[in-house]
Amino acid sequence: MAWRGPGAAGSGRSLVSLSLRCRCFHAAVALLKRKTGADHQWLERHLKDPFVKATKQQNYRCRSAFKLLEIDDKLHILRPGLSVLDCGAAPGAWSQVAVERVNALGTDPTVPTGFVLGIDLLRISPLDGAVFLSETDITDPSTLRTIHSLLPAEKVDVILSDMAPNATGIKELDHQKLISLCLGLLNLSQSLLKPKGTLLCKFWDGQDSRLLQGRLKEQFQDVRTVKPQASRKDSAESYYLARLYKGK
Ligand SMILES: C[S@@+](CC[C@H](N)C(=O)[O-])C[C@H]1O[C@@H](n2cnc3c(N)ncnc32)[C@H](O)[C@@H]1O
Repeated sequence: MAWRGPGAAGSGRSLVSLSLRCRCFHAAVALLKRKTGADHQWLERHLKDPFVKATKQQNYRCRSAFKLLEIDDKLHILRPGLSVLDCGAAPGAWSQVAVERVNALGTDPTVPTGFVLGIDLLRISPLDGAVFLSETDITDPSTLRTIHSLLPAEKVDVILSDMAPNATGIKELDHQKLISLCLGLLNLSQSLLKPKGTLLCKFWDGQDSRLLQGRLKEQFQDVRTVKPQASRKDSAESYYLARLYKGK
């Protein structure tokens, strides 16, 4: 499916915790009913955001879908037949994109059928073509066994991570919590990612970003930083795209 999103993100300040935790339109409206002033300005900006409009028009669960669509359109990480582990999958927009792009439903019989497994601390509503592990912590040692029991093969072609810990508002602390989630995922790659596989992970920029980048470079042949247009300019959010995993 071609990306039919808007050409540019709206300007203005970030949606702070709401965007960080990917709460969507209805949650935003519910929250705003209890707030005033600056919050109403925030809602106005949110409603004018072209990606929010496109999210509704194209029936994605969250505007973050456009981040993955843009990255994939440019850098081609998903294709029919691939198996994908989507970490931090709730509410499920990245999984929607992955299901479409790997042909997980077998909609196109002329190309291979892929597989998508999504995992999140939160509950994820069912999605045709995806298997979900809801209310599950990727950092829990028992989770690896559960993931393996659900995969069609021992390892996946692509690990996606849009995970974000609950933001405390203390920038440095939030940055470190997310870096440590990414490093944990990199460790899990040994058991979960096929050789030459791909890892796409979100990070919030800060003093340990280089450390994560260095670790990725040790284990992948190609590591680059990507900041899609749907990722707000004033947000510390970026993604590392690591390709050609060197693991066995
Ligand atoms: C920005 S949202 C992901 C949005 C998702 N990519 C989408 O498009 O719908 C970040 C998610 O990471 C999840 N998360 C944070 N820490 C996690 C952990 N340790 N294990 C699993 N999920 C986690 C959060 O619960 C949250 O739902």
